Amino acid sequence: MSKVLTIPDFMRMKQEKEPIVMLTAYNHWQTNLAERAGADMILVGDSVGMVEHGLQDTLGVTMEMMIMHCKAVMRARKRAFVVGDLPFLSYEIDEREAIRNAGLLVKEAGVDAVKLEGGKSRKNAIRAIVNAGIAVVGHIGLTPQTATLLGGYKVQGKDDASAKRVFEDALAVQEAGACAVVLECVPSPLAELITRKLDIPTIGIGAGSACDGQVLVFHDILGLFEAFKPKFVKSYANGVEYLTSGLEEYVKEVRNKTFPGKEHSFAMDPEIVKKIEAEYF
Ligand code: KIV
Repeated sequence: MSKVLTIPDFMRMKQEKEPIVMLTAYNHWQTNLAERAGADMILVGDSVGMVEHGLQDTLGVTMEMMIMHCKAVMRARKRAFVVGDLPFLSYEIDEREAIRNAGLLVKEAGVDAVKLEGGKSRKNAIRAIVNAGIAVVGHIGLTPQTATLLGGYKVQGKDDASAKRVFEDALAVQEAGACAVVLECVPSPLAELITRKLDIPTIGIGAGSACDGQVLVFHDILGLFEAFKPKFVKSYANGVEYLTSGLEEYVKEVRNKTFPGKEHSFAMDPEIVKKIEAEYF
């Protein structure tokens, strides 16, 4: 069995400028594929609400959903460091609640770290969870759980004031004890400055190539999410087309009776068939 990657591995990768590859996964088969592909970090993101449950945004995601998805991922984990997202309002109310919910993802599902959104405003929550012995990944820039306050799903840090805010959020997250930070939708030069300043790895999504690592949503990488496609997404496969053509073939073969064939069926003694026919027909 290969060794599970740890925080010191990611610190070394940052120092040696070896890119950290993170992607999201939400269940057992997706994790198997991510492991086969060689992902270093798997994020069980609250994006699960949108890509797997059909929600409009991530706000309706619950702890129960996150625990269930994290458990399924952990059953297939081999080498990747697994991070479970804390859903909206599971860590904002007070620090005890934050520790309790982070603890549930670690104790019930077995994830290696939790992720929560926010910089300066979440410093106390991050510090409390880390002091309780749980690794935390920060998430700053565009924070989807509080997108309404940011004026929608917009790039963050373009002007003077907001660039300073994002930069200071990064410093706050590191100072609070986070082991890495996701930078979402920030201009590449700002992400480069943050990456240069921080000792902990930065993982970018829509934050350019200077980050220590990159993260994308599983469904976006494979062309499986059709509702919308942000500018920062690159799809490496047309999953919807590929999978639909497989399903269409199945539908066609059932309708024209070419499936199931002999090779998918079970034979029996013709004498028994005759007996049943004689008795019941
Ligand atoms: O929930 C998620 O998938 C995320 C990534 C987009 C970073 O937070």
